[in-house]
Amino acid sequence: MNNTSQLLDVATKAATEAGKFLKQNIGRVTNVQTKGGQERNLVSEIDRKSEEMIIRMIKQSFPSHSILAEEGGTGAESSDYRWVIDPLDGTTNFLHGIPLYCVTIGVEYRGELVAGVVYDPNLDELFTAERGSGAFLNGNRINVSRTGDLIHSMLVTGFPYDIAQNPDHAIERFIAFLKASRAVRRLGSAALDLCYVAAGRFDGFWEVNLHPWDTAGGLLIIEEAGGRVTDFAGAKGSIYKNQILATNSIIHNAMLEVLAGQRYN
Ligand code: IPD
Ligand code: CA
Ligand code: CA
Repeated sequence: MNNTSQLLDVATKAATEAGKFLKQNIGRVTNVQTKGGQERNLVSEIDRKSEEMIIRMIKQSFPSHSILAEEGGTGAESSDYRWVIDPLDGTTNFLHGIPLYCVTIGVEYRGELVAGVVYDPNLDELFTAERGSGAFLNGNRINVSRTGDLIHSMLVTGFPYDIAQNPDHAIERFIAFLKASRAVRRLGSAALDLCYVAAGRFDGFWEVNLHPWDTAGGLLIIEEAGGRVTDFAGAKGSIYKNQILATNSIIHNAMLEVLAGQRYN
């Protein structure tokens, strides 16, 4: 196995370089298209160029590794290593000139996340984790919050692009958590949502129908910061599942109860 520090090093360089490219190009987008037949699911040439930049850098160091990237970029057919990349998480914010977006990269070894990076170029915040070594923000150790109950909790969520066709109780869950918590935010970048839980800024995050590239960087970061990640039934979290609940651990069961409709509904 490669030294995970080498993986993290390359992921960090790629994410920071691509993040700076995004920041330089906000407000300069000329070509916006929709994806998957969904009017709200947008992609621009900046998403694609950011992805190309990241993949080029990964291939320079690890030409034999596999790649799963949102805009379709690929690497070697099969390898023990897989890089899972979102070259611009928060595209809708980006296209509206809102400085809430990031680059996120997770690296799997034989199906297990071993390194994760999320870079926010606007606040120059780099979140990183290697399995077993803790989570860091700009090199300083971060930990989840110690908030012990929902009424004192600051929560965050997001909504799927196809919510009109496939509501999946997203609105009901949002209302239930609004009633149960101190406040609920919706930032528009799942990767930042996860990192903000890892850093103790939020106490919990839930969302449905995310893709592996949305959560691959943040999931390891939150676990390494002492958080807990599951699906809505409390089973082990995965970037390949379509439900994610990520919390400071302490309020996890209370959030599971709300999701199960046992309280506040
Ligand atoms: C989106 C963001 C958003 C979430 C959406 C994602 P994108 O990613 O993470 O917060 O609610 O479900 O698709 O499209 O900006 O990369
Ligand atoms: Ca995304
Ligand atoms: Ca994206």
